[in-house]
Amino acid sequence: MHDEIFFDRFLKYMSVTVTEMFRDPDFYRAVREKVIPVLKTFPFVKIWHAGCATGEEVYSMAILLHEENFLDRARIYATDFNKHSLAAAEAGIYPEERMPNYIANYLAGGGSRDFSDYYSAGYGLAKMKDFLKERITFSYHNLVTDGVFGEMNFIACRNVMIYFDKVLQSRVLTLFTDSLRHGGFLCLGNRETLNFSNVKNHYQAADVKQKIYRKIGAAHV
Ligand SMILES: C[S@@+](CC[C@H](N)C(=O)[O-])C[C@H]1O[C@@H](n2cnc3c(N)ncnc32)[C@H](O)[C@@H]1O
Repeated sequence: MHDEIFFDRFLKYMSVTVTEMFRDPDFYRAVREKVIPVLKTFPFVKIWHAGCATGEEVYSMAILLHEENFLDRARIYATDFNKHSLAAAEAGIYPEERMPNYIANYLAGGGSRDFSDYYSAGYGLAKMKDFLKERITFSYHNLVTDGVFGEMNFIACRNVMIYFDKVLQSRVLTLFTDSLRHGGFLCLGNRETLNFSNVKNHYQAADVKQKIYRKIGAAHV
């Protein structure tokens, strides 16, 4: 019992959950301009946000897909190994005081609508609208110990591997390569790269600066 409590606290400590909606707006602009047009050629796409923390990144993607009239043709998987974060992500309720910053990010990332349409506000809180949630499946997944999440068209794992050593990063990058469909996209955080890893030859850069890679060639063996 004590071990369980200790582990829970340790996990909370280890899993840095800093995140924002439309974090790094230029990344979202690149997704709008370079990724969505390709995804739109498919009748249906599977998207995986690995290390989704409290969900801000996932709602940002759902908003973007909605604006591209593509949300109903997508299934988004949002995973994390911190169940507290995952519960917060599923609730989709955030302090209202963060909204001005998120609105600024959204506009800088190419958004042009009224961002306040995406949440209901009250009692100092902002609750994301249910229609954004309908296409999102939240589930526990540990990148270190759990397996492939198959046939994805798009994987975002941003600002997660920065805390892993190179061996672990390589393992996780292999997991992503095995989880991605041919021609699928892998997005990393701006301080992360796959250049050192043995999966590097399976990708070409779709946007070097924004760390968006496209899977090419044979599946990783
Ligand atoms: C700094 S947050 C990044 C959130 C979001 N991707 C972003 O860029 O805004 C890192 C997240 O990775 C999760 N994480 C760390 N190690 C993990 C692992 N082994 N498996 C799954 N999630 C993990 C943490 O729990 C945390 O929620």
